[in-house]
Amino acid sequence: MPRVLQISDSHLSSAKPHFAPNWPPLHRWIEAQDAALVVHTGDVTVDGADQEQDMRHGADMLHGLGKPALAVPGNHDVGEVGNPYQPVNGERLDRWRRHFGQDYWLRDVGEWRLIGLNSMVFGQDGPDEAAQRAWLDQAMEGAGDRPVAWFMHQPLFIAHPDEPDTGYWSVKPEPRRDLLALARRSNVRLISSGHLHKAHHEEIDGLHYVWCPSSGFLVGPALQPELSGEAKLGAVILDFEGPEVTITVSEVEGLRDFWIDDVKHEVYPPR
Ligand SMILES: [Fe+2]
Ligand SMILES: [Fe+2]
Repeated sequence: MPRVLQISDSHLSSAKPHFAPNWPPLHRWIEAQDAALVVHTGDVTVDGADQEQDMRHGADMLHGLGKPALAVPGNHDVGEVGNPYQPVNGERLDRWRRHFGQDYWLRDVGEWRLIGLNSMVFGQDGPDEAAQRAWLDQAMEGAGDRPVAWFMHQPLFIAHPDEPDTGYWSVKPEPRRDLLALARRSNVRLISSGHLHKAHHEEIDGLHYVWCPSSGFLVGPALQPELSGEAKLGAVILDFEGPEVTITVSEVEGLRDFWIDDVKHEVYPPR
């Protein structure tokens, strides 16, 4: 039974080591699991979108886990569409690829096909989004009868697949519609994301939607609207058995409940 561990939102930086104390317990927890693969669903770094050193440090940490590891980028790693200070662009994506490899990827694990997607280019209306989307069609076609899991930083939606634009918190309605249509007409069984720093799992029409909690910090109500899910740190264990998957949101012993609210002025000062 292949086991995959999903971790997310570690927000690592050697220059701003505010959440660094949570990496060693996470590392120990990963070492203790008999896992085939670790998937990091983004915001590996505090500010890889601008700081080469953060990217190098984040990649060193991830590759030092002693297990095969793959990552997809978050907004703090490569910027985001429409952000006036850190738009996702070729330079930022190149920096990610130099340290972490391709920003979208596939791995076949047991009977399953796992696909990592760069959600930060959804809605870009540019060459990076188009290239990934064409690649995704091929990857889905190549999956044949395999069940498929998608991993991405941002969730496709917060409360409902048909909800309007949620701003910062999820994928925009237009790319969301396209991706959900693709997921529903194919064999996608699991869509797992990060970004919200909350833990959540629901099943809608046979498709599992999972929010992997952060292993870095929590976000207080002053900085995040009220969302479903649980404000707790941790990780996700995915046990693939035949065409089934068992999903466990897991605590990670030794993680400290840092709150971004307490240190936001230092870690992400206002511009
Ligand atoms: Fe994050
Ligand atoms: Fe994020």
